[in-house]
This record gives sequence, structure tokens and C-alpha cells, in this order.
Amino acid sequence: EARSAVRAAMCERVFGESGARLVIEEYLEGPEVSVLSFTDGHTLVPMVSSMDHKRALDGDLGPNTGGMGTVAPNPWYTPEIAAECMERIFLPTMRAMNAEGRTFRGCLYFGLMLTKDGPKVIEYNCRFGDPETQVVLPLLDTDLLEAAGRLAEVDIRWKPGSACCVILASGGYPKAYKKGLPISGLEENGQLPGEPAEVFHAGTKLESGRYYTNGGRVLGITATASSLEEAVSRAYAAADRISFEGLHRRGDIGARALSAPKD
Ligand code: GLY
Repeated sequence: EARSAVRAAMCERVFGESGARLVIEEYLEGPEVSVLSFTDGHTLVPMVSSMDHKRALDGDLGPNTGGMGTVAPNPWYTPEIAAECMERIFLPTMRAMNAEGRTFRGCLYFGLMLTKDGPKVIEYNCRFGDPETQVVLPLLDTDLLEAAGRLAEVDIRWKPGSACCVILASGGYPKAYKKGLPISGLEENGQLPGEPAEVFHAGTKLESGRYYTNGGRVLGITATASSLEEAVSRAYAAADRISFEGLHRRGDIGARALSAPKD
């Protein structure tokens, strides 16, 4: 796998010039956790944790994608692990950026792996995550604009319960896929009738009152409920009501989260 990845990046240049240099990293194994946080450079407030499912196929098989679905909160991310991450990762990151004269204000994204040697960072992003945001923000109880610029004063509250987002992708994604296929099941406002879940449009276009596919990840279907089991089952029930030619989705979003030890 390593040889063929190097060949694809450096010889075949599948990522263009970005493949000219490679960084070889330690292989990290364990449940993934995404923690988005609000920061103004002095205060850092983590949002509710989430779990992305990056591989294209069930059982975490197939190529990496931008994310095929998410759940929040992530049950693997216990209060003890959250406290450790705050002390060992989040605050040191914020302080190190200040020390370098690169104070960051906005949404800082920590992509973590909970390895047997403790939590480790696999990636940072200075933006919200996709499709993490589709499960994190529906659980936010505080007005986001109220918090802006007043992080130290505002108590950022989260709703109880869980959220699940199932991505409906074009057949073939993340490799070549068709565009322009009509989508069935949506109303003109882009939502499902009766609104059993929220439909987030990622790769669609609206023409003469009808939606068509227009990207690799086409729609994100988010449901919230008092339990993770119920949120997963509602998201899939809603996703079942939408169709287009070649539609691909994972059938196991939330399965790893549901297998987390219960306390
Ligand atoms: N879901 C991964 C990302 O937003 O980078």
C-alpha cells in the first residue's frame, strides 16, 4: 500500500504538484475523535465531540473521503480523555500559536486518534469540519453570534441527546462520478416532506424547481434524538426517502460509536 501510494503521488502525480513532497508519519490506530473548538487566542472552548467516518465503504474499508457520516457526541471521548486533551493538546496548541505570533481566532479543529498510548493529533484545521459541523451545530444551545467576541463571558451550552449525519454520495466518489442526475424525494425548499431530519446540501444544483447532483458528496442527512441509537435510526430512515442514480452511502455510520464501552 505504501509503495503504491508513493507511486501514485510522486510518479503518476494524482494530486498534481502537491505530490512532489511527502511527509511520512507514525501510523496511529484507535477510535477517531474530532473536536472543534472556539478560540479567541486567550480562551478555548471545545464544542461537543464527534466521530467522522472517512473511508468510502462499510467497516472502514476503501479509499479515504472527505467524510461519509458523523455522530456526536463521540462516546469514546470520555470526560477524562477530554480533560487530558485540554491540558496536553488544546491549550498548548493555542499558547504555541500565540508564542509564534500567530494568534488564531475562530474555529480550531483537532483531529484526534485515541491510541493505546493516549490521544494523539492526526490533523489540525483552522475551520469547521465537514460533515462534523452537521452534527455539532444542531446540538448547540447557545446563540453562536451571542458567543462571538465574548468567549470568556458566555456559557456555551449544549442540548442533551445525540446527532447522526449520513452522507449520500455520487456512485464512484471519491474517484470519478457522474453529475447532473435528478434527485428524488426532496421538496422545492431542499428538505424532506414533514422534515423528519435536516438535509444539508453539499453537491447539488437547483434547476427549474428540481434538484440535481453536482458533486461527490451530494447531501448530508442529520437527525437528532435523545439517544445515539435513535439518532442513527432516524437519519437512515430519512436517508431512505431520497434517491438518485448510483447513490452511494455507508450503512454503518455510528456503529463504532455504539460499540464504545458504556460506563
Ligand atoms: N471531516 C474532515 C474534515 O472536515 O477535514
